[in-house]
Amino acid sequence: MTVNHAREDMSIVIVGHVDHGKSTIIGHLLADTKSLPEGKLEQVREQCRRNARPFEYAFLLDALKDEQAQGITIDSARCFFKTKKRNYIIIDAPGHIEFLKNMVTGASRAEAALLVIDASEGVQENSRRHGYMLSMLGIRQVAVLINKMDLIQFDEKKFTRIVEEYSDFLKKIEITPTCFIPVSGYQGDNIANASKHMPWYHGPTVLDVLDGFITEIVPENQPFRMPVQGVYKFTRDGDSRRIVAGTVESGKLRVGDEVVFYPSGKKSIISSIEAFNKEKQMEVGTGYATGFTLQEQIYVTRGELAVIASELKPRVTTRIRVNLFWLGKDPMQMGKTYQLKIGTAKVGAKIAEINRVIDASNLNYEKKDRIERHEVAECILELDKAVAFDVSSELAQTSRFVIVDRYEISGGGNIQDGLDDKQSWIRDKVMLRNFKWEKSLITDEERAEKYNQKSVLILITGKKDVGKKRIAKALEKKLFDEGKIVYFIGIGNVLYGVDADIKGINNHRMEHLRRLSEVSHLMLDAGAILIVTAVDLTNEELELMKTTLNPEKIETVWVGDDTDTDLAYRLYLPIGSTEEEAAGKVKGMLQERGIIFKP
Ligand code: GTP
Ligand code: MG
Repeated sequence: MTVNHAREDMSIVIVGHVDHGKSTIIGHLLADTKSLPEGKLEQVREQCRRNARPFEYAFLLDALKDEQAQGITIDSARCFFKTKKRNYIIIDAPGHIEFLKNMVTGASRAEAALLVIDASEGVQENSRRHGYMLSMLGIRQVAVLINKMDLIQFDEKKFTRIVEEYSDFLKKIEITPTCFIPVSGYQGDNIANASKHMPWYHGPTVLDVLDGFITEIVPENQPFRMPVQGVYKFTRDGDSRRIVAGTVESGKLRVGDEVVFYPSGKKSIISSIEAFNKEKQMEVGTGYATGFTLQEQIYVTRGELAVIASELKPRVTTRIRVNLFWLGKDPMQMGKTYQLKIGTAKVGAKIAEINRVIDASNLNYEKKDRIERHEVAECILELDKAVAFDVSSELAQTSRFVIVDRYEISGGGNIQDGLDDKQSWIRDKVMLRNFKWEKSLITDEERAEKYNQKSVLILITGKKDVGKKRIAKALEKKLFDEGKIVYFIGIGNVLYGVDADIKGINNHRMEHLRRLSEVSHLMLDAGAILIVTAVDLTNEELELMKTTLNPEKIETVWVGDDTDTDLAYRLYLPIGSTEEEAAGKVKGMLQERGIIFKP
C-alpha cells in the first residue's frame, strides 16, 4: 500500500431536517468533483428511466454504498471524495441517534459540519436542534447551506431572511457560522460551481468552503488517550506476556513511554507495541487499534484510560457536571439508574441534580425534575463507580459519553466538569500510591500458584457483640490448619500501632479505615488471605475500602440480623451458628468464588 503523506483527511458531518436535501447535495458534490466511478451517473439515470422514476442525486449514494464499503464494516451513511486539497469523509447522519452514536463512540470525529435548511420550508425545529448538538459536541466550523433555492426562484430577500433568523439562533449557542451559501442541490447551483442564477451572491461554493475548513489541532499533538478495551494473554507457548489493547483516541504512543492507567493510577513503561498481523512498531498514533506490552505486570482492566505520565492528567471521580441531550421515548428521570458509557467504561449513572432543562429548538429553559425527549439539560450525574475522562474544554473526544436505557442509546453529551465526591480525598492518595508503587518481579498469578490460593480480604462485619471476632479467629485457624497463608487483623492491632497518632476512633473513623485498608493492601499484595472484623460497616465505608483496594479482592460477611444494614454483603451468617459452622460457610464461599480450591 502506498501512503501519500502529503494528503490530509477530513471528516465532515452533514445534518439537517428530514428531506431538506442532504443526500442530494452530497450526490451532486460527488458527481461534480468526478468522485463517482466511471459510468455510475449514467447507470443510475438509466435505471431511473427504466423504472419510470425521476432521477435523484440521492440515489447515487445508495448505488455507491456497496462499492465503497468493500467488506469493511462501516455504517452505510458515509462516502468519500477528494479535492485537490485533501480527502473527505462525509458522514450523512440520518437521525439524531446515529449522529450522536457516531460522534461519541469515536466511529467518526467530524471536524466540521454542513447544516442544510430548505429555503422553501425555512428554519425547522430540527434545524435548531442539530445546531445545538453541533455546539454541544464542540464542532465549531459550521457552514449553513440554504438549499432548494430553485423553489423560491433564487430570491435574495427570502434567503437573507432565513440567514437573519438562523444567525440569531446560532449566536445564542455560540456558533459563528463560517458562511451561509444559497444552493440548489438538485440543479447544482453553488455546489462545486458558482451559480448562474444568483448573480447577487459572491461568496464561496460548497466545495470552496470545504477546502477552506481548517484541520483542527492534529489530534497527535494532543495528550495520548487510549481507553483499555481488554487485556489479553499471548497464547503462544511459554509467552507469559499480556497485551493491553484498545484504540488510540488522541495523541501518540512510543515504546519506552511511561503510561499511567486511570482510575487506578497504576503505571508502567511500554515495552513493545504490537499490531495484528503486522511487524512490531515503535510508535502508534491517533485512530489506530493497537496493543502494547508493559515492562512490569500490573493489573489493569477494561474501562481504564491509558495516558502518558508526563502529559495532561485526566479527571477521575463519580460526580460529573454534564450537558446532556435526551432522545429516549420516556423522559430521563431523577433517581433512576441508567448506564453511562464513556470510552470503554460502562457504569451505572443517576441524575443527582438538574440545573436547567433547555428546549433545543427554541432555547427556552426552565427548572424541572425530568428531561423530555429532544431536551437538553445541564445536570449533575452520580456514577456508581469512578471513571476517568477529560472535561470538554480540555479534550473533547474523551469528554463525550452516551446514556443507555434498557440496551438502547437514549442520550449523550459531554462532561463539563469533574466534581469532588466522598472518595476524592482518598482516591488521590491511592492514585499517588499506585503511581509510586515499587513493582516486584513476582506477579500475582505466580504467588497464587505457589500458595495455592488467591489473595483476598474477608471483611466480617455486623452489630456489636454478635461474635465477629470469634468467627474470624476460628476461620483463621481452620484455613491455617489446612495449609493456607492466612492472617487475622483485629482492629486493636492497628489502632494502637499504625493509628497511634490519631486520637479517638469515632471522630476519625474514615482515616482509621483508610489505614486499615492500606495495611490490607500490603498483605493482599503479599498473597495472603486476610480476615478483618469491623463493627457495623456501612456501604459508604465499604466504598472507601473499594477505592483503596482492588474491589474484586474484597468479600463481605454480615453477621446477625440482616435487616439492620444497607451493606451489599456477599455472605450472611445468622446469629447463633457455632464458630465451626460459620467458618465452614465462609470457606464454602471462598471455594465457590475460586479463591481457594477444592482438594
Ligand atoms: P433524509 O435523508 O430523508 O433526511 O433527506 P435528505 O435531507 O437527504 O433529502 P434528500 O436529498 O433525499 O432530498 C429530499 C427531496 O428534496 C428529494 O425529493 C430531492 O429531490 C428534493 N431536493 C433536494 N434538493 C433539492 C433542490 O435543491 N431543489 C429541489 N427542487 N428539490 C430538491
Ligand atoms: Mg438523506
